[in-house]
Formats: sequence, C-alpha cells, structure tokens
Amino acid sequence: ASPYLLDRFGRRARDLRVSLTDRCNLRCTYCMPAEGLDWMPQDQVLSDDELLRLMRVAVERLGVEEIRFTGGEPLLRKGIVDLVRETALLRPRPEISLTTNGIGFARRAADFADAGLDRINISLDTLRSDTFTTLTRRPRHADVLAALAAATEAGLRPVKINAVLLRGVNDHEAVDLLAFALEHGYHLRFIEQMPLDAGHSWQRSSMITADEIQQRLQERFELLPHPAPRDGAPAELFDVAGYSTDGAPATVGIIASVTRPFCGDCDRTRLTADGQIRNCLFARSETDLRAALRSGADDEQLADLWRGAMWSKLPGHGIDDPSFLQPDRPMSAIGG
Ligand code: GTP
Ligand code: 5AD
Ligand code: SF4
Repeated sequence: ASPYLLDRFGRRARDLRVSLTDRCNLRCTYCMPAEGLDWMPQDQVLSDDELLRLMRVAVERLGVEEIRFTGGEPLLRKGIVDLVRETALLRPRPEISLTTNGIGFARRAADFADAGLDRINISLDTLRSDTFTTLTRRPRHADVLAALAAATEAGLRPVKINAVLLRGVNDHEAVDLLAFALEHGYHLRFIEQMPLDAGHSWQRSSMITADEIQQRLQERFELLPHPAPRDGAPAELFDVAGYSTDGAPATVGIIASVTRPFCGDCDRTRLTADGQIRNCLFARSETDLRAALRSGADDEQLADLWRGAMWSKLPGHGIDDPSFLQPDRPMSAIGG
C-alpha cells in the first residue's frame, strides 16, 4: 500500500485538519442560529486516546506533515493543551496549528506555546465592538483582541487573522482591518463566504467576492503579486507595498474558495470530532473511522480505510454546478 494519502487526480493530502468539537461559544450569524445546533452526543465524540491513535496512524503510515486543530471552537475542548503536547511527540513531528475564535486563549497562550503549538489563526471580522456583538451575538470583542496580543507575546509566528466580510455589516472595514493587521504585525486573510452555514441561507449574489475585496483594499494600499509559490495554500497572497511584518514584506491574503477555487492543489484531509474522515469540506459522504476503531481495527486497517476515503475525492467542490448540494453537516460540525 502507498505510504501516502493519494487521490485519482494526483493530489496528496499532507495536511490533516482535526475538529475537536462541534460546539462554539459564539453564534456568528453566517454560521449558526442563535439557539445553537443539536450538538453531537458525547459518546460519539472521539476521546483524546482515540484521536491520538488516529493522528499517529496519519503521521506514521500516511505521510501527514501538518495537523491543524479546528472546531466548532477547539478551545472548548477540555485537555486541548495536553493534546497539543502529545501531538508534538509524534514522529516525524508534525507542524501543529490552531484555528480559533480566540476566546479564552489569552490566559493560556504561554501554555500552548510551551506544549508545542507552532502557529495560530484567529477569526476577527470587525474592529468595532458593537459590530462584533451583532455579528457573533456575544459581547466578546475584547477577548479576541487580547488573544491576538497574547499569541504574539507568546512567540507564535505568524499570527494570522481570518476575516469574513458580510455586505452591509462589516464590508466597509476591509481597509481598516488591513491597517490594524499591519500595525500589529498580524497576517490578515479575507475569506469568501462559502455555502456551509447551518441555515442553508448562503447566496452567491450577496457574497463579497475576491475582486471586490481587492478593489476596496486598493483604494488605500498598493497590492503587488507575492513572489513565493503558493504551494497548495488556500490564500492567494499579495505584498502590501511599503509595509513590512517581522522584517519581511507585509502580505494580505484572499481565500477565494468560490470565485477562484484552488481544489486542484488541495492537500487536505479532515477528521470530524465524531471520527469521520471527509476528503473535502464539501464531500457528500464520509468514512467512519470511529466504528472501525471501536470494533478493534488495527493501525494498518485504519490506514487503509483512510486511503480509500481519500482516493474517492472529487476534483472540485462543484459550487458552480447546477446540481450542487450543500453538505448535510454545517461547517461547525465538519471543522473549518
Ligand atoms: P494556513 O495553513 O495558515 O494557511 O491555514 P488555512 O488557511 O488552511 O486554515 P484556516 O483554518 O485558517 O482556514 C481559513 C479559511 O480557509 C476557512 O474559512 C477555511 O474553511 C478555509 N479553508 C481551509 N481549508 C480549505 C479547503 O480545503 N477548501 C476550502 N474551500 N476552504 C478551505
Ligand atoms: N464561509 C467561509 N468562511 C467561514 N467561516 C465560518 N463559516 C464560513 C463560511 N460559511 C470562517 C470563520 C473562521 C474560519 C475558520 O472559517 O469565520 O474565520
Ligand atoms: Fe463559532 Fe466559528 Fe461558527 Fe463563528 S464561525 S459560530 S466562531 S464555529
């Protein structure tokens, strides 16, 4: 068997995204309803030991080189710092990163860095406290700003910001968000909204597109093509003329999943909190590693199931196809 996770279109998954919980302490309007969702039953959520076993299979038998913890909100998972510490003991040691809303991170930043967290991506859609409360339905803006500062203080590099722009809510803030990121040394990326919300209310016509984001930024900044190869990254980077971050030219990224899809270079495989492999955010089916694990499969059997899951990966998300169907699970249950 191949030691890698390959698909029939020649892609190799090196980047594992592990969702640690489907729960969240915010209620972003573009993600989930105010009342929350029907959370996964606890007995279906993988334990730390189960997760570590699967991550070890991925690293040792399948060539996974990077592990990113996501959610829901991964900081809500008890014991996440220890999980990071154990993950850092895998060999070859994977790069370890976290995608989070930042709430509660500030007071634990040093612990995470000590445990082996390499990088962090923190979501921040607005610089205005009142807009934050409207958008996330929780008054926690200050916590997120504190998380960004604490991540920098703890030495995590780069500290990235993920921002989704919503028409009429925060779309006029593109330039201000970039000015803020440049001032503090954060790496800002704007994300096109994808059809992954729990309410299935995404509409292409109301999405702020990459073209629009570029136009808005260019009203105040000069954007130049970033010279380094993109290397499978979702974000298309631009250098911001005249600015630097940590001694290198400052960049801003646009993750244009919808209007400039990058599926052809995708290097991801996903594990949900309840132990399902997804070969794509938009996959129509999943592979149940939890059942296999709990019925006594050995490591090589788990690896084989995982290889099979990735082999059937489709060439792209198909958002533009007339037959496109949003996945049954929302992004909060898949992992961002
Ligand atoms: P870096 O390694 O730091 O570049 O991380 P990343 O951009 O891959 O991850 P992050 O978790 O910060 O995700 C940023 C945005 O990109 C989120 O909205 C993700 O849902 C989206 N994203 C991540 N991976 C994929 C993917 O495979 N396909 C698509 N379409 N979007 C993705
Ligand atoms: N489309 C694009 N990005 C989304 N996020 C959440 N839901 C969506 C969506 N439907 C973003 C969050 C966070 C990142 C992990 O994904 O705002 O920054
Ligand atoms: Fe939580 Fe992220 Fe969804 Fe916002 S987008 S509600 S932070 S999971």
